[in-house]
Amino acid sequence: MINQQLARFNRLDLLGAPTALEKLERLSEWAGRDIYVKRDDTTPLALGGNKLRKLEYLAADALAQGADTLITAGAIQSNHVRQTAALAAKLGLGCVALLENPIGTTQSNYLHNGNRLLLDLFDAKVELVENLDNADQQLDALAERLRNSGKKPYLVPIGGSNALGALGYVRAGIELAAQIEHTGLTFAAVVLASGSAGTHSGLALALSEALPQLPVIGVTVSRSDANQRPKVQGLAERAAELLGMPVPDSFKVELWDEFFGPRYGEPNAGTLAAIKLLASHEGLLLDPVYTGKAMAGLLDGIGRQRFNDGPLIFLHTGGAPALFAYPDMWTA
Ligand SMILES: Cc1ncc(COP(=O)(O)O)c(C=O)c1O
Repeated sequence: MINQQLARFNRLDLLGAPTALEKLERLSEWAGRDIYVKRDDTTPLALGGNKLRKLEYLAADALAQGADTLITAGAIQSNHVRQTAALAAKLGLGCVALLENPIGTTQSNYLHNGNRLLLDLFDAKVELVENLDNADQQLDALAERLRNSGKKPYLVPIGGSNALGALGYVRAGIELAAQIEHTGLTFAAVVLASGSAGTHSGLALALSEALPQLPVIGVTVSRSDANQRPKVQGLAERAAELLGMPVPDSFKVELWDEFFGPRYGEPNAGTLAAIKLLASHEGLLLDPVYTGKAMAGLLDGIGRQRFNDGPLIFLHTGGAPALFAYPDMWTA
């Protein structure tokens, strides 16, 4: 049902083909548990990542509305802003981004290297702001300013996480369910980073219909369970409403919130250990803000026997460009 509902929406085909689902052989041996990875870090545009799936729907909407500029917001090292700016360049659109410094750092690499370096290459215009505490209003005000100067802006919310953007991960959930079926295996859980929540909401919504027994566990990267839960639940409800379907009874929000400290954008010892482990055992690059924290949660979950029996899937949502913004972490 969800597949047919989804087909009604305009989508730019930017991915081309499903991302791979592959077994991490050496990590599985190390952990004593079979671990697979869904490679959304390898989506085609500008060093990859999860946002391209949301942008397939959001940019199609922008073009349909005749927009000439994509506007969005995020941290200075936002992967979302990088992918939005790259897509704007590819589509011949302008891009203006509001950027905040969520960790208040003066480190040159954070301010200029990694994702931030790439924004200049894409010709994105950047406005630094004190914070993004009222991001929707701040983006509305920017849109108004651009309209007054004759532009046709399209507002991409933080993380691409509105109901339309979440459809990208509904589609990813359908794609993953087909790949799971092809393996013939019964997986114990899918684990992913849960931030602005569009990835988590969309994926969990699709899987609750396709594979209702499969837990989808979001490891939070910035919030407690109590603060993240209404975001994931609310966005899933709005995405289901947009699709014209009820939220399936089997839909459940599962969150682990012990891994995001000390705060968004600042890695902890477990994050760094997970990044090092995956790099040294698999040649696979995680990131200090999202996937390093999520993988730390997955590994801890194995150690503390929080999963049912069976292999696990880690959704790799990308983010490795941010490694170059935190080089001191590796020499400290
Ligand atoms: C690498 C990476 N992983 C995970 C996420 C979280 O996805 P969402 O914001 O949809 O929860 C992001 C969002 O910026 C990201 O850049």
